[in-house]
Amino acid sequence: DSATSLLKTSTTGAAAPSAEKSRVAFLYGTQTGTAERFAKQLKSDLQQQYADTHEFVVEDVEDYEHEELFPKEKLVFLFVATYGDGDPTDSAIKFNKWLTETAKAATEDDGPQLLTGVKFSVFGLGNKQYEHFAAMGKRVNDCMLQLGAQEVCPRGDGDDDEDIDEDFEKWKEQLLSKVEDQKLFGGEATHSSTETKAISLPAFEIQVLQPGASDTLNPHMMASGNGTTAQSPYLGRVTTARELHKPDSERSCYHVELDMTGSAASYEAGDHVGIYVENEPDIVGRVCRLLQHSPDTVLHFKHPPGNPDRLAPCPAGNVTLRTAVAQWTDVLSPMRKAAFVKFAECGKDVQGAEGERLRRLAGPDGKQEFAGYIQQPQRCLLEVMEAFPSVHPPLGIFFGCIAPRLQPRFYSLSSGPGPNPKSLHVTCAVVNDITPTGRTHKGVGSTWLAGMKPDDKMPSFVRRSTFRLPRQLDVPIVMIGPGTGLAPFRGFLQQRAWLQKKSGKELGPAHLFFGCRKRDHDFIYEEELESYASNGVISHLHLAFSRAGPEKDYVQHKLKEQADEIWALIKPEAKGHVYVCGDAKQMAKDVHRELVEMARLACGGSASDGEAAVQKLVDSGRYQRDVW
Ligand code: 2AM
Repeated sequence: DSATSLLKTSTTGAAAPSAEKSRVAFLYGTQTGTAERFAKQLKSDLQQQYADTHEFVVEDVEDYEHEELFPKEKLVFLFVATYGDGDPTDSAIKFNKWLTETAKAATEDDGPQLLTGVKFSVFGLGNKQYEHFAAMGKRVNDCMLQLGAQEVCPRGDGDDDEDIDEDFEKWKEQLLSKVEDQKLFGGEATHSSTETKAISLPAFEIQVLQPGASDTLNPHMMASGNGTTAQSPYLGRVTTARELHKPDSERSCYHVELDMTGSAASYEAGDHVGIYVENEPDIVGRVCRLLQHSPDTVLHFKHPPGNPDRLAPCPAGNVTLRTAVAQWTDVLSPMRKAAFVKFAECGKDVQGAEGERLRRLAGPDGKQEFAGYIQQPQRCLLEVMEAFPSVHPPLGIFFGCIAPRLQPRFYSLSSGPGPNPKSLHVTCAVVNDITPTGRTHKGVGSTWLAGMKPDDKMPSFVRRSTFRLPRQLDVPIVMIGPGTGLAPFRGFLQQRAWLQKKSGKELGPAHLFFGCRKRDHDFIYEEELESYASNGVISHLHLAFSRAGPEKDYVQHKLKEQADEIWALIKPEAKGHVYVCGDAKQMAKDVHRELVEMARLACGGSASDGEAAVQKLVDSGRYQRDVW
């Protein structure tokens, strides 16, 4: 059995491989840990029943030797998240490239198909607010079919905008019944429990140490790396931090410069920086009070031996509650149902109206109430804890409820490396919204950035992107970036100005479409842009002020006014590049529609001709987006 020779790695500390067991693989491509959680959940459900006859292996696609192993698998479950503009997660880039290229080659020549013997099913994760919802799941599923693999159960899609845990549960139910119908595990389950566990969250083993114990995990131990990967952040130093909005603006946008001297990080214009941000002291204080421990309490986090679980809230060791809550605890994201159920278990003895409500919300009949109270207003763990003051979750359960832990925030760099390769500029709108239910929501990352002062430190790393200037300086560029979508274009402009000075070469046309509410409120980097427009680094500056007059004026309206000139630069037969950066939910879609319309008018054809012309630009890498 070729599958038995594959029993090479197991990230889950499974029992020693046995020669008779057939292998089942669970692969995940995750950004925040949800795909990993689901992969492990399904594995644990199946393992419960079929451990005697099968070997179960969970692996990150990043570590998976796909070329060698994939064709030999018998049964594979894939959990893949979609990131940004329909892209794979960082960890799945290589796997995605290999799979799509192999599938493409297979459809082009009719040779034997690589995955003929493989049975599979895919669960794709994404967010319906975005245009390319769960695109990665769809792509992986299609490629598997093109390569001859057999689908055990139709693909499931999880929508993080609603209840992704429930989407997973539904898919899992369907999958498990297909597994039984198709006798995929060779007949009867060894342990007949067909009852699968509902999504369970980990409870961590945490010891409260005596007062005065030392915290070996000091506040910045996370930042001893070289700054080139998320696992290896470097402690960058803030050199400049200033407000970009003008005094009349009721909102705020920060410009922060970060010095990465001493790190190995290098970057190009268009790259991103990842920053490990922290919860502000007010939030940390509220959490500690609710947990009924002083922030100075030193905790010892234990990890199961030999299994440094990446889903754990923090590295094993001693840490103050303050540091653990500030750096690792995501208490402001909307609360998941599974976390609420766990939380409610801690309050099973709570009496009166509070107890009744808690049980109703957690129970099967409370679905609608849960949606109305938690999901729609996006209520977070902190608010839920404050709303149910009689429930005191033990630390281990509290830290289990916050999975996935606080994630690094990514910002499109607003500088080019030319003038100073170790200086990274960040342009960040401060999120301070009133939710539909009247609560103030402050963004964790932007609030933290806005509090930065020179010499403060931020654990940071560079993330490469594919958003790139053309190699030749004379190739025309069209940049569309309202609001903080301007960030990478400021980087492009800095870089072009620097390259021109160095080489003495001519610059090609550069159109910048920028939009904001009002010139004297939120026109960020106004002087710099005017100066680029006067010295030719920008050949055409198009400004759209949306709240200056009675009518909304948006970047796509300006684009429409310039349709002929712009299309002449970027049409498939021309050379120009077009870039869009900023809001994915509305702006990028509207701009895309305008580009398609522009193409349609130019070719005098139908909407689908317009789409086809724009698709050509995408395929040739001349239409790039950095949207969120
Ligand atoms: P608004 O807030 O007045 O609607 C940066 O955020 C700028 O983008 C603002 O001027 C904002 O306008 C504008 N904007 C909002 N929705 C947009 C859309 N769908 N397309 C283009 N610009 C948009």
